[in-house]
Amino acid sequence: MEKTALKIRVFGDPVLRRKTKPVKEVTPLHRDILSEMSRLMYAGFGIGLAASQVGVNESMIVVDIGTGLYKLINPRIVKKEGRQALEEGCLSVPGVCLKIKRARRVVLKAEGEDSRPLTIEAEDLLARVFQHEIDHLYGRLIVDYASLLDKLKIKKKLKDLKKKSEDERLPVSETKFCKLSRPM
Ligand code: NI
Repeated sequence: MEKTALKIRVFGDPVLRRKTKPVKEVTPLHRDILSEMSRLMYAGFGIGLAASQVGVNESMIVVDIGTGLYKLINPRIVKKEGRQALEEGCLSVPGVCLKIKRARRVVLKAEGEDSRPLTIEAEDLLARVFQHEIDHLYGRLIVDYASLLDKLKIKKKLKDLKKKSEDERLPVSETKFCKLSRPM
């Protein structure tokens, strides 16, 4: 796998729907991919990115809401608490903002890029981004949470994105920020 070939995949790309495999052993290639993912996340003004969003079928995410960069391998949620709705955007579904209910607080377990086991407690926006990225690892996208009315509203947009994803060109400038959060 060429890390230089990594780019953000857009809605319509089947790789976004694939469930990722756990990383059994962390190699220098995984660390390279995590760095490249961070670069792409920052370049897109995003606050999170999952490996499936760059076409890598392994369980890895990067997250930075402005409080520091997390590079996590095999992240999984072990505890959820509370409920909170907020508009979310996704780097793979540019131009779409959807109000999504998620747990307000989560506890995750993961491994760091040095293979060290980690336990992370997060709330509010950070908890939301972790849930969003872990959804990606299972092939779940924000559009799956859309209400019937939302689905009608974004139908045309999704059709356009699908077409663009087939054309393989989508300028980052198309990324629309949601009122309260940046794309993830
Ligand atoms: Ni996303």
